Amino acid sequence: MSKILIVGNVLKDTYLRLNEHHEDFETDANGIKWINWGFDDSDHEFFSRESVFSGAVVTLEVLKRFGLDAHIYNESQSDIPSGTIKAVNFRYILCAGDQISYLVPSEKHPTKFTATSISNDYSWIFVDRSAIISRELVTNLLQAIELQKNTKLAVYAPKRINKSIEPLFERANLIFTDHPISITNTKAEICEISETGAKMAGKSVKFRGLRKTALFTHLTTYSIISATILGSKIINKSKEDQLLMAKMNIENTKLDQSLPVEKLEELAAEEKASAVNLSQMAKELVGNGKGILAADESGGSIHKKFESMNIPDDFDHRRDYRNLFFTTEGLEKYVNGVILFDETARQLSDDGRDFATYLTSKGIIPGIKVDKGLANMPGSTEKYTLGLNGLDERLEEYYDMGLRFAKWRAAFEITESTPTKNTVYKNVEILADYALKCQQAHIVPIVEPEVVFDGDFPIEHCASITGIILKELFAELKRKEIDLTATILKVNMVLAGKKYVTQSTPKEVAEWTAKTLKRYVPEELAGVVFLSGGQTPEQATENLQEITNLGPYPWPVTFSYARALQGPALEAWKGDNANYPEAQKAFLERLKANCAALKKSI
Ligand code: 13P
Repeated sequence: MSKILIVGNVLKDTYLRLNEHHEDFETDANGIKWINWGFDDSDHEFFSRESVFSGAVVTLEVLKRFGLDAHIYNESQSDIPSGTIKAVNFRYILCAGDQISYLVPSEKHPTKFTATSISNDYSWIFVDRSAIISRELVTNLLQAIELQKNTKLAVYAPKRINKSIEPLFERANLIFTDHPISITNTKAEICEISETGAKMAGKSVKFRGLRKTALFTHLTTYSIISATILGSKIINKSKEDQLLMAKMNIENTKLDQSLPVEKLEELAAEEKASAVNLSQMAKELVGNGKGILAADESGGSIHKKFESMNIPDDFDHRRDYRNLFFTTEGLEKYVNGVILFDETARQLSDDGRDFATYLTSKGIIPGIKVDKGLANMPGSTEKYTLGLNGLDERLEEYYDMGLRFAKWRAAFEITESTPTKNTVYKNVEILADYALKCQQAHIVPIVEPEVVFDGDFPIEHCASITGIILKELFAELKRKEIDLTATILKVNMVLAGKKYVTQSTPKEVAEWTAKTLKRYVPEELAGVVFLSGGQTPEQATENLQEITNLGPYPWPVTFSYARALQGPALEAWKGDNANYPEAQKAFLERLKANCAALKKSI
């Protein structure tokens, strides 16, 4: 069995939780929160208090769970926790809501190491994150392993690196770091760790919403990640698996108990399978000559539609309206998926099942609009999209409700001075953050940057603005390492603005749209779907037909209309369920025409 020596310090963390006492904090003129503990005789019994061993002990726990014979070095060579702990550093951690502060004694215990006192059968020595690396430590350690060529060395790089540490890096096989460093003189593999992910040898992994408020500080997090990577490396896992096991451990472990290796292997395998599933799901949504129905108008949009037709805007009418589309006979022959609005996803179909379950039983994938609408950019009428707050939790809930893809819309209006660069950057940044969160929650993201049709601009201008947005969007998606094979683009067709003197012909729309998309949309993307954006239903179909005629494209291309599919049915329904048959007929007509437009016309 591999024997591992951990060189570091044992810490004792005492957490004082102030969570229930937010109101006791005062904010000073600099925005810093203060609490008055009053050094008087009063007790502070309201603080909940919990103490755990930390530092090298965390590393020990993780490595032991890999079945490895790990030991913490201390001067008396006793194991922790069974032996005598010679030096313990005490640390107080104050937790108040999201805020964590550390109270560390100014006198730190140095990490001691004497070369003569270790046996020569260690396969790895790990200078842990908790080690305080002095010149003396480096000298002693290197001396201890000088003749032990088979002993490998892993080092967690400290924040401040000085010359005296460099020999350690030269000898190291593996270096962990949680801040940008440049180490030139080393052959070691370098693993970069942050609170959001880890990277090593061109491979990377992203972590899902880590808990910082509880007993997990970012420091504990780093210890668990580095130890898991080391442990899985020692048992010969691939780099991809090392990173995945670290992800699984940090997302699922409890502070006092790390996950056993068998569990980590199982979770890592599931994670790999679900990444494959996500691309498959994305492909299913855009394939088979079918489209996606957008039935996700927010409360406000529905209100306007209903009001204009004197239909009462209440819970039941909204349900009946959606139900009309979902119960249309044979819907599954024309659409792969339906995008729902939060309220609709919680409403029930006629048979008492919720709509997501009902659609799934028809072989249709239910999805959900997750953005929270538009807000003005500071001092401007340009818009950016709200909804990132609490998105992780909402996605988790939506996944549990059976929703498998999501949509997020950013809207750009073309005027003489807009969209500005600033607004484009802000929105693509948000879109990429959303896409990342979706993929982490095993939900396929549809990213929708929409250049709004309702304006006064020629088609060339629409092409250039759409192109700029797509270019920035895909640059940002790449930067955030979004899996494009599991991402769908929902986009406007390229056309002259609705108020422009000359309206674009279907041929012009197709040519400009094809050119723009081919130029800016990466080939590996799962698919491109179009919004109708206020075109008439017939116009949206004709334009789609011409776009199809100019195919094939590197990705599947299909429709994801709201208005152009639902408009005629709404007119026929009028808020009266007796009109369902006629309304459904009108809806079917649009579905059939658009599916027909997905095939090339001869
Ligand atoms: P339209 O097809 O009505 O433009 O709606 C599509 C959509 O989902 C907009 O977010």
